[in-house]
Amino acid sequence: MSSELTVPPGTGPAPAPGAGGAARRLGDAPPAGLLDAGERMNREKLRAHQLDRLRATLRHAYDNVELYRRKFDTAGVTPDDCRSLEDLARFPYTTKADLRDTYPFGMFAVPRSEVRRIHASSGTTGRPTVVGYTEGDISRWADVVARSIRAAGGRPGQMAHVSYGYGLFTGGLGAHYGAERAGCTVVPASGGMTARQVQIIQDFRPEIIMVTPSYMLTLLDEFERQGVDPRTTSLRTGIFGAEPWTEEMRREIEDRLGIHAVDIYGLSEVMGPGVAQECVETKDGLHIWEDHFYPEVVDPVTEEVLPDGDTGELVFTSLAKEAVPVIRYRTRDLTRLLPGTARPAFRRMEKVTGRCDDMIILRGVNLFPTQIEEIILRTPGVAPHFQLRLTRHGRMDRLTVRAEARRDAASAQRETAAALIAAVKDGVGVSVEVEIVDPETLERSVGKIRRIVDERHG
Ligand code: DLL
Repeated sequence: MSSELTVPPGTGPAPAPGAGGAARRLGDAPPAGLLDAGERMNREKLRAHQLDRLRATLRHAYDNVELYRRKFDTAGVTPDDCRSLEDLARFPYTTKADLRDTYPFGMFAVPRSEVRRIHASSGTTGRPTVVGYTEGDISRWADVVARSIRAAGGRPGQMAHVSYGYGLFTGGLGAHYGAERAGCTVVPASGGMTARQVQIIQDFRPEIIMVTPSYMLTLLDEFERQGVDPRTTSLRTGIFGAEPWTEEMRREIEDRLGIHAVDIYGLSEVMGPGVAQECVETKDGLHIWEDHFYPEVVDPVTEEVLPDGDTGELVFTSLAKEAVPVIRYRTRDLTRLLPGTARPAFRRMEKVTGRCDDMIILRGVNLFPTQIEEIILRTPGVAPHFQLRLTRHGRMDRLTVRAEARRDAASAQRETAAALIAAVKDGVGVSVEVEIVDPETLERSVGKIRRIVDERHG
């Protein structure tokens, strides 16, 4: 790991059940009959399968996407040079800039008429990145999301309330097709109209909810506003992703809602949700569905491949995608690879607690928003709603943490601010300003939350 990108201390893997702190509540593994053929492979068979698929993917990309042909030629490699999984390291990386430069359809490896669906990620600046799916891609995507739902504890016949946004974002439709494939009854709620969602959850009685963790908090507040104890709802399983969240947030959501909260990871460039999933019987990081997505972790600065166990930038190569195969796509997400547990053939990735892009450097100290989330959730009197404001004063950057007082502590804002300043200084080693605002004044998330407001102007 490069010294410029140290990962936040204390945001490592979940502690083993019973290993200090409150014992973790774990759920039931799916019965063996519910595992699919990919999940039943042993590691040796999986690796042989990966190599076959990798070689076919490299060939497909080289033959059908000009950008890949150019990049491989420049690097002096051809698809035939890949004889082992380790050979992948000889091939060039792909970045978001490559996808932007070929906007809109330059990365497509099949004729447009074979593309059944388009998704796009908005991005904060510039052109969106566009991805496409063949009929086969959509079906395999549904398979991996269905596998994720079963790993989370969902079962055929249950009802899944999907509050990820529907549209160009992959969250809604990705979850939707996966839940149908898993044999669930899907409620396509999408994001927004929060009061109505709370009503629908009470009336329809779903067991599963799929939503960003920040929008789950918004829904929880709405339950309470309507005078409903969220622990009395039918919900049993929450499948949360699309943004970083911490173990402290898991505890907050599990306690307030009385469910199992597990992590789902993915990105549109690689597929959408369902690239990796935490299993409810271990809650120890996310198993990467390695029969579809080949992971590497690299040093984001030197670009060298790191051994399993080392933290760096996650890189993915798709193994079965037709419309937009991706070769060594740099995700910008920071994590490390660990051996499989609940699904022994698949390696796990540690919960993603930061992106290279989200790292704040404050007077020489590296800081990720998740570190502040951890501290906020541990500080009495503060609600789990916060925003980070960056300003510049002369040559000094200043970080202001704006956090909401809990309703029962609204009169002790000065004490709460002092406690938070001290906790951040103690936990992260840097001085920040803290502004405690009245309950229910910060903007609520209806999808992916934006934590950082950068007012440094250039
Ligand atoms: O967020 C896909 C998704 C939808 C995943 C619903 C899970 C649930 P994008 O909009 O392309 O796709 O954003 C991808 O979001 O590179 C990460 O930085 C972040 N991200 C996604 N899942 C997680 C997670 C969807 N579980 C980007 N933990 C990724 C932390 C996540 N970050």
